[in-house]
Amino acid sequence: MIVGFVGSGSMAAAIARGWAGEFEQMLFSDSGSGRAQELAQELGGEATSNDEIARRADLVVLAVKPNKLDEVAPALGEAREVVSVLAVVTLERLRAALPAAEHVLRVMPNIGVEVRQGVMCVAGSLGEEAQDKLARLGWVVEIPEDAFDQATAVMGCSPAYLALVAEALADAGAAAGLDPKLARDLVAETAAGTAALLREHDPKAVQKAVASPGGSTEAGLEALDREGARAAFAAAVEASLARMKG
Ligand SMILES: NC(=O)c1ccc[n+]([C@@H]2O[C@H](COP(=O)([O-])OP(=O)(O)OC[C@H]3O[C@@H](n4cnc5c(N)ncnc54)[C@H](OP(=O)(O)O)[C@@H]3O)[C@@H](O)[C@H]2O)c1
Repeated sequence: MIVGFVGSGSMAAAIARGWAGEFEQMLFSDSGSGRAQELAQELGGEATSNDEIARRADLVVLAVKPNKLDEVAPALGEAREVVSVLAVVTLERLRAALPAAEHVLRVMPNIGVEVRQGVMCVAGSLGEEAQDKLARLGWVVEIPEDAFDQATAVMGCSPAYLALVAEALADAGAAAGLDPKLARDLVAETAAGTAALLREHDPKAVQKAVASPGGSTEAGLEALDREGARAAFAAAVEASLARMKG
């Protein structure tokens, strides 16, 4: 199976790295920056044009900015199977822009796909083989299209928010005297362990298990509440949603 990426930016790179070794051939295009060539070199693929991708790829990943859909669609007439990662662009718009495609899947992935631990909210359809390839990148969950924006705000954007939490904690550790690299490593490994725990337990239960009454974690949680941590995250989700609505 040959996969072609129309657009070779951050999201295309994350998906392509997650798929390293999975396809017979990987094709990449860009608008002239040279990022397609860089990715092709990194992953052993080929940089080419959009219409060449439409002609040769069994699966086309549409990974340009949402406002570029109308610019790239005319060259993709021959694409039969298309995965779109474009935020906000509905299946109806995609199908109208790509009328010859047999399968169109709208996906909202997050950056975790690079390490095959992504979350992918999907709507639409895909052939069995392509569906299987997608599942290699992490957790695929079908959601109603009218929930995409809200889902994006909590899973598409949130790797950045969680990384900010990690950065803030590591900076605080360094300010308290830890070696900065050690502080970052301690936080990263703690985040990985906490993520695994959160698969098994309710977030409240994890907090309760760490924060014994009168202890240091309880004092920390109280400080976070006092400083408005919850309100800050609610504001982040609200701001992302407002930006998506334009
Ligand atoms: N970043 C994320 O975490 C994330 C998460 C979920 C969804 N998404 C979605 O992924 C899509 C891409 O986002 P991104 O962050 O990867 O953006 P990006 O880094 O700006 O990449 C966009 C890519 O599209 C290419 N492009 C523009 N016009 C083109 C054309 N006519 N033909 C071929 N390629 C063209 C650009 O080429 P140049 O390299 O030449 O500029 C660039 O390689 C967006 O629709 C976004 O909604 C992103």
